[in-house]
Amino acid sequence: MHARIIGTGSYLPEKILTNDDLSKLVDTSDVWITERTGIRERRMAAEGEMTSDLALVASQRAIQAAGVQASDIDLIVVATTTPDVIFPSTACILQQKLGIPGCAAFDVQAVCSGFLYALATADNFIRAGSSKCALIVGAEIFSRILDWTDRTTCVLFGDGAGAAVLRRDALPGVIATELHADGRYTDILKVPGSIAAGAVKGKPYLEMDGPAVFKFAVKALGDAAESILAAQRISKAEVDWMIPHQANLRIIESTAKRLDLPMSKVVVTLPQHGNTSAASIPLALDTAVRDGRVKQGDLLLLEGIGGGFAWGSALVRW
Ligand code: ACO
Repeated sequence: MHARIIGTGSYLPEKILTNDDLSKLVDTSDVWITERTGIRERRMAAEGEMTSDLALVASQRAIQAAGVQASDIDLIVVATTTPDVIFPSTACILQQKLGIPGCAAFDVQAVCSGFLYALATADNFIRAGSSKCALIVGAEIFSRILDWTDRTTCVLFGDGAGAAVLRRDALPGVIATELHADGRYTDILKVPGSIAAGAVKGKPYLEMDGPAVFKFAVKALGDAAESILAAQRISKAEVDWMIPHQANLRIIESTAKRLDLPMSKVVVTLPQHGNTSAASIPLALDTAVRDGRVKQGDLLLLEGIGGGFAWGSALVRW
């Protein structure tokens, strides 16, 4: 038995924050942000809008695209670093909003690689016979964990959600997934704050050693892509689309170069979305599915990396 992605959906909050808007908040410029990252604008969740609200719309669109009923879903996995509350899980809140009580629902926390962790989890549940129809979601409101006075981080991220429905199938849609983590790098990208005795202890905003993250990401993503292709005896030339985590255009370009992939085979949503963490891969996937770039039979290479460090890749036949 295999798992096949049968529908995708996504949602972006209405409010757009451009690089020029940001230059009124901190000492930055459109030129600096565009040249260093490739980002031109990002979306911001409205006050009161929660991660589960973003996840709900993306899920409803994925369920509709899949042509199934919400009640067919027997597993919900939400990848998020910005849950509505500490608990219950955003997956349980989403389940309640979808009106499908009873099925398994839980969150995974692997920051920007979260969607790949959710995909691998659902794929394994389906192949083990524990699920027939799974909903996986990457949803984030990173704008709430950013220090809006820190120009080195606040310009990089945006809010959004993407979702996919996977169904048991005789043919392999998800060919392989490969996950990695290295906890020795917890310090280069983190939100160190925690809650203790009714108060936030430590900084509740994102901290990052940008150049160290850049260096680590370039190497890990290249290695992960080469490793999963070699394990499946699939050549680089067979990849129709690379759908990478959207953190920085220079990271994406360097991975594509290492794989000898022209940028015309890489889905890039970074200029419009910024880095939406766990939502970035499903947002890019849904964009390319809906605009017709991804076609039936295409071989997709998904890859992502984020705090932890945690990273991974997946090969998917569309
Ligand atoms: N506007 C203007 N100037 C800025 C800004 C800004 N927004 N941010 C930093 N600068 C300044 C710095 O203060 C520094 O000034 P100085 O030389 O006077 O000290 C100068 O620009 C260069 O700073 P660097 O950090 O060396 O710039 P770099 O070329 O490394 O680019 C960046 C920074 C874009 C963060 C890059 O390191 C990067 O993309 N790293 C990867 C980080 C990433 O993708 N994080 C996302 C989360 S992790 C993930 O998703 C994988």
